[in-house]
Amino acid sequence: MSSRLLLCAVLFAFVPRSRAVDVVRANDRAPSNPIFPNGLDVFGRDARCRACHALVNALNENLIPSIAAERAKPASRATYGALDALIEAALAPACRLSATWRDATTRKACERLMETREDDVAAAYHRWIKRGGGSARDGGGTRGDGSRVTVAEARSGAYDPVGWNWNYEVCGRATGACREQLAMHELAEFDDDGAGDGEARKYRSEQRPADGETVDGMLKVTAGTFHEAVVRRDADVVAYVGFPKLDKWGHFYAAAALGSVREMFASNETAREGFEIAFVDGTHNDVPPPYGSDAQAPTVAMFAAGNKNWPRYMTDMNDGKLTAFEVLQFIMRTSAKPSTVQHAHWLTQSLSQNALHRRIWDDDEL
Ligand SMILES: *[C@@H]1O[C@H](CO)[C@@H](O)[C@H](O)[C@H]1NC(C)=O
Repeated sequence: MSSRLLLCAVLFAFVPRSRAVDVVRANDRAPSNPIFPNGLDVFGRDARCRACHALVNALNENLIPSIAAERAKPASRATYGALDALIEAALAPACRLSATWRDATTRKACERLMETREDDVAAAYHRWIKRGGGSARDGGGTRGDGSRVTVAEARSGAYDPVGWNWNYEVCGRATGACREQLAMHELAEFDDDGAGDGEARKYRSEQRPADGETVDGMLKVTAGTFHEAVVRRDADVVAYVGFPKLDKWGHFYAAAALGSVREMFASNETAREGFEIAFVDGTHNDVPPPYGSDAQAPTVAMFAAGNKNWPRYMTDMNDGKLTAFEVLQFIMRTSAKPSTVQHAHWLTQSLSQNALHRRIWDDDEL
């Protein structure tokens, strides 16, 4: 058997048979918000967290202008009573009135949230007022003429106290509707879920892998689990989106280098804690924006702990022809985690030249 044929035989053992592919359909009643079968959307939000974000957006459009107008009235003392009445009046119909909630699941989650946490939401608005919310921040004070603040102004944060984050205050602290990782972001970051306007976009995803399931030596991740496994995880995660069906050799070479580096970390108890290398099969999964793209080209990106909003891409994948050493260099350049950087450095110093620089594509035999 020629070595090329032998490699082929190994490769077929290496690339798993294709799994069932579900096409994820955006809910008809909420065409702008694709939901994966696990109930999470492209940001990793569950229905309760989505409902809280929709609630705060809708409330702010009405409440911030009214409160700012109330506080701007020269004669008014903007008494606690008057402001409280504004807040109460806005909260009562909040789940019914928003035009954005055509989705029954989200609307029900909103109603449940308000049944149990309405007072906490109101208290967050009072905290905002107490910290100076409702007065323009640009030094000019509130509008003296009592004219209405526009929705755009309300949303721009011009009336928010310095450092105020609505998402954190209401959806994190007051109601616990969103987990901490999601509640830390500004609300505006959730505005564009990549669906575009017009026709609902369909994201394909393989079925959810088993916990810790690996493929080709890497952690298996799908479009539907990308957010929880890569973005939300508090670790350095190198995510490789590959196309084994389109370029089996390129995939084989890249997977060999990435899989061997993963093993170098996994076999060391301290180093493996905060580090992972994940593989998404791009031929069956559409990783939603902002983390994926439509390009059918392989990518390797570091989603570094503490800096998940800024993935760093490997700029030249050399058609998958990567050595373990090049992968380790990439990790050292893009991670800010001492345990990861130190271990990668230690590996480059302590491993054999063959382990570090092996060019599997030049090998005559495996
Ligand atoms: C684990 O890695 C560290 C460097 O990150 C190294 O100092 C240590 O010796 C390694 N442990 C083992 C058992 O190889």
